[in-house]
Amino acid sequence: MTIAIDGPAAAGKSTTARFLAKKLGYLYIDTGAMYRALTWKALRDKVDIKSKKALSELAKNTQIQLKPGPNLENKVYLDKQDITSFLRSSEVNRYVSLVSSVKEVREVLVAQQKQIGKKGGIVAEGRDMTTVVFPEAELKIFLKASLGERTRRRWMEEKEKNLSYDKKEIAAGLTSRDRIDSQRKISPLKISQKAIVIDNTHLNISQTTNKILDILKRKLVR
Ligand code: DC
Repeated sequence: MTIAIDGPAAAGKSTTARFLAKKLGYLYIDTGAMYRALTWKALRDKVDIKSKKALSELAKNTQIQLKPGPNLENKVYLDKQDITSFLRSSEVNRYVSLVSSVKEVREVLVAQQKQIGKKGGIVAEGRDMTTVVFPEAELKIFLKASLGERTRRRWMEEKEKNLSYDKKEIAAGLTSRDRIDSQRKISPLKISQKAIVIDNTHLNISQTTNKILDILKRKLVR
């Protein structure tokens, strides 16, 4: 089966998808990591982020591989180099929505994502999993949470890494990314008509995972 999960930034998609994949023995695919990897390379190589042509060339000439780590988290290899630890920097956060709004960039990465998922047995998460990449997925979920709760979660993550960001700054960053991701022309973040919406503002990760597993069980019994 293919399980596709979309939703705004910091709605708990990655952890939920990883827990689900672990329970089901499936492969977890973090598609945001692919856009982050390309953004990181563009920044490293000082590619003009405003040039669609330059970004499109970059996407065509870059090899991105996702490999499952010990806890099924995705290790990201860019042109064979493990760059996983660089992908959550504030610089990458700032530019990734811009890079991922370029049509040609998406064409290249979407084709790769379809290829990785073509045999099924995956839990894929991102912004266009339920609408564009795996619209035929047996289970489509849209995961959301209030901005306040998403800000709190991101702030906790940063705190664990000993980074002290201002909550207001985090909220502004999330709002800005959500706006670009849902207003872009190509594959905007939106709720697929076939998706089941789960608001996990008041749920923790295992409650969210169990809710999805229950939905899956009910689907299988039907
Ligand atoms: O899930 P994330 O925060 O790691 O994603 C980073 C950015 O990548 C996000 O702001 C939008 C973009 N993205 C996308 O456009 N399509 C996807 N399938 C996944 C992520």
